[in-house]
Amino acid sequence: MRIQNIKQKLKGFTIFDLFSLIYNRIILFWLLGIRSNVIFKIKAFLWNVKYGKNIKCYGSVFLNRGHLSSISIGDNCLLISGKRRGTACSIYSPVKFRTYKGGKIIIKDDVELSGTSITVRSTSCTIGSKTMIAPNCIIMDSDFHTVSPKYRRNPGFENDREIIIGENVWIGSRSTILKGVKIGDNSIVAAGSVVTKNIPSDQMWGGIPAKFISKL
Ligand SMILES: CC(C)(COP(=O)(O)OP(=O)(O)OC[C@H]1O[C@@H](n2cnc3c(N)ncnc32)[C@H](O)[C@@H]1OP(=O)(O)O)[C@@H](O)C(=O)NCCC(=O)NCCS
Repeated sequence: MRIQNIKQKLKGFTIFDLFSLIYNRIILFWLLGIRSNVIFKIKAFLWNVKYGKNIKCYGSVFLNRGHLSSISIGDNCLLISGKRRGTACSIYSPVKFRTYKGGKIIIKDDVELSGTSITVRSTSCTIGSKTMIAPNCIIMDSDFHTVSPKYRRNPGFENDREIIIGENVWIGSRSTILKGVKIGDNSIVAAGSVVTKNIPSDQMWGGIPAKFISKL
């Protein structure tokens, strides 16, 4: 009976399936994971980036902490940067954390970031616990330039605004979160959105610019 069950399960299994199994289960999850974690921890030490227990990285995380700024990552966070490990919708994009003088990035516990770029120039960006951000998303507290033709290239920091993303939020792939946005707990940002205004808790928003779609 048992042998029959095994035979049934292995029906159609080829040498190529064996390769796929070994690659996905051993090379990708174990070897790439262990290597990425070691490299991340060395980089985190050099950039003085704080991280919590049980962090898991796949691929190379980009870190650049400007002077007098801070980056902290909570417990049990997952950072997927690898071109090898990624969700089906990922175009290769590493997780990137960049702060400039005085900026703060705070990632709470159990956050999953897949190819997300967070840049904080002079304020802060907080990502609440259990939030998931899909590949190719961009979050920035500054426009870096200004609409004024005269000062466009070198504006001051006066328009920079902090970003607060709540708990258990899901941000769909290829979305952009602009300066000053607050997203409430449990809310969803649909794929490909540009969020320019605050999103209350327990709502789904989407589009360019993102608008209310439904309550959850
Ligand atoms: C947000 C999402 C989950 C909604 O899925 P859903 O509940 O099945 O919603 P529906 O497809 O029924 O769409 C509901 C409404 O939202 C609109 N909508 C859905 N996705 C949208 C988007 N990306 N941008 C703008 N509007 C969108 C639909 O047009 C529809 O509008 P209507 O009621 O006026 O017809 C899904 O559209 C989405 O964006 N998923 C993200 C996937 C992703 O990035 N995954 C990452 C994997 S790591």
